[in-house]
Amino acid sequence: MYKLKPQSKVLVTGGTGLIGTSIAKHLINKGVQVNYLSRSSRQVEGVQVFLWDIENESIDERALDGVEVIIHLAGANVGQGRWTESRKKELIQSRVNGSKLLVNTLSSISHQVKVVVAASGIGLDPQPCDEPLFINDLAKVWEASILPIEEHTRLVVLRIGMVLSNRGGALKKLVGPVRLGLGAAIGNGDQQIEWIHIEDLCRLILFAIEEDVKGIRYGVAPIATTNYDMIKKMASILHRPLWLPKIPGRILELILGEQASIVTNGKQIADHEKKWQNFKFRFESVREALIDLLTM
Ligand SMILES: NC(=O)c1ccc[n+]([C@@H]2O[C@H](COP(=O)([O-])OP(=O)(O)OC[C@H]3O[C@@H](n4cnc5c(N)ncnc54)[C@H](OP(=O)(O)O)[C@@H]3O)[C@@H](O)[C@H]2O)c1
Repeated sequence: MYKLKPQSKVLVTGGTGLIGTSIAKHLINKGVQVNYLSRSSRQVEGVQVFLWDIENESIDERALDGVEVIIHLAGANVGQGRWTESRKKELIQSRVNGSKLLVNTLSSISHQVKVVVAASGIGLDPQPCDEPLFINDLAKVWEASILPIEEHTRLVVLRIGMVLSNRGGALKKLVGPVRLGLGAAIGNGDQQIEWIHIEDLCRLILFAIEEDVKGIRYGVAPIATTNYDMIKKMASILHRPLWLPKIPGRILELILGEQASIVTNGKQIADHEKKWQNFKFRFESVREALIDLLTM
């Protein structure tokens, strides 16, 4: 079993994003040294930033000096920009080529990496009349690209649900209209949402690093919600009315195109797949999470 110590060094790819920023704080609080691999040089308090250029397969190998843990989060944001063919290519290549660069680097240098925790998505269940969903294909190729790293170290692939954080991501987008009294469910509102509070996700990543787990695991809270239930709870916690009719999925598709599938489709994960032995979630229900994030 690996234990993080104050002298441990952790490399985070995509560390400047929503999840990376939070996990870096947890690590720094433990006294752990944190390196980022980023596309741009910038000052980040408490972190040493190294450059990589995924497209040109170049990486500053000093980023891996003394590193025992890699948290691999880098990838173009699936919630930003319309999914044109070129955007889809970017969403894929930023993940697949980033993973390949890490794998190739680990196979060409001597390193001390003991564990890699790599992000993935939970995927979505297509509606009966849907074409295959891009988001599922993305998750497949993304996971396949990091698997070869198992030849060099322990790997945990974390299939993460919708991350709830008050610093951005899905919650910020969903709660905006609710705060204005203009909240509404999307589609029939019954789509299942597997979600996780950012705090629990960070604790889970640390748990995955330190416990003897490997392979594909789910980063989702024990109790899922639905689109309508989440909007209703937000409105109730914020004391806002919920009076608008549900927004038909087709309208969202007209506005967002294929990207609308993220909110019009849901995913249910079986309880036994979600289970983590010896890990206690702080936020098991979406109500507890929303109260914490929207009122504290
Ligand atoms: N947030 C969620 O609800 C959620 C759910 C499931 C899975 N995930 C996955 O978990 C990972 C981290 O999520 P997040 O919410 O922290 O993402 P995020 O806020 O979008 O941050 C991702 C980071 O990846 C790097 N990046 C962005 N575009 C890139 C590109 N074209 N090529 C290479 N690197 C690029 C950026 O770091 P630099 O600018 O420093 O390079 C960025 O800060 C992502 O891969 C995401 O798909 C997130």
